[in-house]
Amino acid sequence: MKVLIHDDAGKAADCVSGLITARLARAPASVLGLATGGTMEAVYARLIAAHRAGTVSFAQARSFNLDEYVGLAPDHPCSYWRYMAEQLFDHVDLPAGAGALPRGDAPDPEAEAARYEAAIAAAGDIGLQLLGLGANGHIGFNEPTSSLSSLTRIKTLTRATRAANARFFAQPEEVPRLAITMGIGTILRAEEVVLLAYGPGKAEAAAAMIEGPLSASCPASALQLHRKVTVVLDRAAAEGLALREYYEDVHPAGRDAAI
Ligand code: F6R
Repeated sequence: MKVLIHDDAGKAADCVSGLITARLARAPASVLGLATGGTMEAVYARLIAAHRAGTVSFAQARSFNLDEYVGLAPDHPCSYWRYMAEQLFDHVDLPAGAGALPRGDAPDPEAEAARYEAAIAAAGDIGLQLLGLGANGHIGFNEPTSSLSSLTRIKTLTRATRAANARFFAQPEEVPRLAITMGIGTILRAEEVVLLAYGPGKAEAAAAMIEGPLSASCPASALQLHRKVTVVLDRAAAEGLALREYYEDVHPAGRDAAI
């Protein structure tokens, strides 16, 4: 695991946006795995700015998002379809139809999950998978005790996750209880993984992910099994790391020769 620690959240987002633009420069027809949530807003803003400046193109790329709430149609204001349209797709040159998410309003959500998993496999799996981190250690909506080899399926969200995401809804009780999420096994098939976390609320989960035991209690710890993971943190999210000085010696100020 490569651990890059930046002074602040802005620099961490710059770093992640740089990793994505570098990937698209190297492999323009990449299959991207995308995430939603508050953490990614700064990354997508930077990608839009880079696109406007002519330094990145999504014209040959395609993407699969990690997850969607069961029961929300793509035009629902709190759906992840809507989030992606507003935060990225409507502002860059990703071709129409090239950005995929599970359909939260599918009549048979389990069949939709299986269809989505097959579509990812048929695309040759994810090239670069972007991840945020739940305060409880989830990746996608793979909540603690998820199978470490799970595929795309329906998960019941924990109370803590529903509470954390209530800020995006008018009323807390409107947050759906179920989501379709890529599995941990799906994520682990990606060629490379970039995980971004910032703020003190992510410090405990970041430490468990990087330095804790490989355990379904912290689903993100499954990334320890992956051969190409870059974890990008700000100082606050790195606070709980026992080997923090070591990571800072290897990559001073989060600098990475690959960017
Ligand atoms: C979003 C997702 C989640 C979030 C995580 C962090 O598609 O899959 O795992 O990345 O819950 O959310 P924020 O960024 O809102 O703290």
